[in-house]
Amino acid sequence: MATLAELATSHTALGEPAVDHLLRLTASWSLLADLSFSDLLLMAPAVDDESSYVVLGQIRPNNRSTMLNEDLVGTMHHASEWSHAASAFTDGVRVTGETRLEFVDEPVQIWAIPVRFADRVVAVLVRLQGPLRGPSSLYERVYLSIFVRLCDMVAEATFPFREEEVAGPGMPRVGDGIILLEDDGRVQFATPNATNALHRLGIYSAVEGHTLVELGQRVRAVERALNFALPTMEEVDRGHDVAILFHCVPVIADGHVTGVIVLLRDVSDLRQLNRVVLHKEAAVREVHHRVKNNLQTISSLLRLQARRSDEAETRTALLEAERRVRSIAVVHEVLSREPGEDVVFDEIVRSLVMLVEDTVLALHPVEIVVNGDLGVLATDVATPLAVALAELLTNAVEHAFTEFGGAENEHVGVVTLNLYRRDGEAVAEIRDNGRGLGDDFSLEVPTSLGLSIVRDLIRAQLHGTITMTSMPYASGGGTFVRVVLPLAPRR
Ligand SMILES: Nc1ncnc2c1ncn2[C@@H]1O[C@H](COP(=O)(O)OP(=O)(O)O)[C@@H](O)[C@H]1O
Ligand SMILES: [Mg+2]
Repeated sequence: MATLAELATSHTALGEPAVDHLLRLTASWSLLADLSFSDLLLMAPAVDDESSYVVLGQIRPNNRSTMLNEDLVGTMHHASEWSHAASAFTDGVRVTGETRLEFVDEPVQIWAIPVRFADRVVAVLVRLQGPLRGPSSLYERVYLSIFVRLCDMVAEATFPFREEEVAGPGMPRVGDGIILLEDDGRVQFATPNATNALHRLGIYSAVEGHTLVELGQRVRAVERALNFALPTMEEVDRGHDVAILFHCVPVIADGHVTGVIVLLRDVSDLRQLNRVVLHKEAAVREVHHRVKNNLQTISSLLRLQARRSDEAETRTALLEAERRVRSIAVVHEVLSREPGEDVVFDEIVRSLVMLVEDTVLALHPVEIVVNGDLGVLATDVATPLAVALAELLTNAVEHAFTEFGGAENEHVGVVTLNLYRRDGEAVAEIRDNGRGLGDDFSLEVPTSLGLSIVRDLIRAQLHGTITMTSMPYASGGGTFVRVVLPLAPRR
């Protein structure tokens, strides 16, 4: 469906500022539809045919059933069938009457209100209402009187407001409660829902004839609307549990504020919900934080234990265990900063590389180069993958260059970690330019702990594949490890 801006550009001669004005009008016209219990249309003359009008917008009331089942937006109508709209446009005055429309069975009450912008009528606001049934209630009469005042503002180009950035979802609606204030701030009228909202704020006395300040509730938004003729919005809280949103629309006539429409909405439940969500997030963050601290404690204990051990083998085993715990801690470090179901894996990779670099007391200088990244991964993929990569990187640094001698050797050890995604899979490749794997090496024979852990994590836990191969001397030698993980489709 075409937007108002698209329709206006393709079908009317309206310039951009005028179209913006109409956009602002339709952003806040649900108020008009509800106050008048009517369907509203926004119409403007067609650019190529002065006797035709195009419907730029349509809105139905929330508090009445609609008269228009059709979607008229974008349709063209001849001026002769819409004489009220046509004369409102040409004469610049409000025209009311009764009409018959092809798509409505009964006669229709029609109001055509000129929409003025920059001293020019740019469109017509059309109100359509079925035959009136029965006497109207006090509320209906008050609503209608407010509607009339707003229509005058539309014709005087003071409604919609230029500053109206407060419209949009979450904005109070008529059904939420209305207070009508006089030009001195006294309450002229309050709907039952508005009265309920005031009760929530602790105002129980009769409000008519009093200002909010007299009633014990100062609302700056109301004062600003009265004093500066600007639409305003403010959330008024009472204790922790009550929050009422005040949306103030000044009523202006002949350049003076003659009253303020205050729309009230009880947003206490929303606030409460927000608080619960915030609380949950804080709790999750706290848990990650504690897990991280506990892992650090475990790793310190293992390190202490390793230092006390006289046997080299025991010490190595304890230090390896310590390193594994630390690689898990790296993931939790990232999680405790940004809790959630997903993690930016790149941050984990950076910490892992640092971890490997300073864990392995390299007998040989080794450089670790990372290319690419895996983007965002689910935490239940990120944690095992991080541990596996830590093992593989450690192996490369630890075993690949043992035959090349000490730091004085010319050969520079390079370990490359390539990370990339390809349709539905995450790929990690670790390549070193070291001595390669021994002839009797087999990934399938479960002997050493490190690769057993890797195999288990990649295949059993992540349902991925891992291959390890020695590269021929001609292509640089060394070991090439490729890990491929299937990624679940993103939720
Ligand atoms: N990148 C590599 N280059 C050379 N040899 C490797 C490499 N990765 C693993 N290996 C060999 O595989 C063996 C098993 O590794 P692992 O299971 O991690 O045990 P550990 O590291 O404790 O020796 C290593 O001892 C080593 O001989
Ligand atoms: Mg190892």
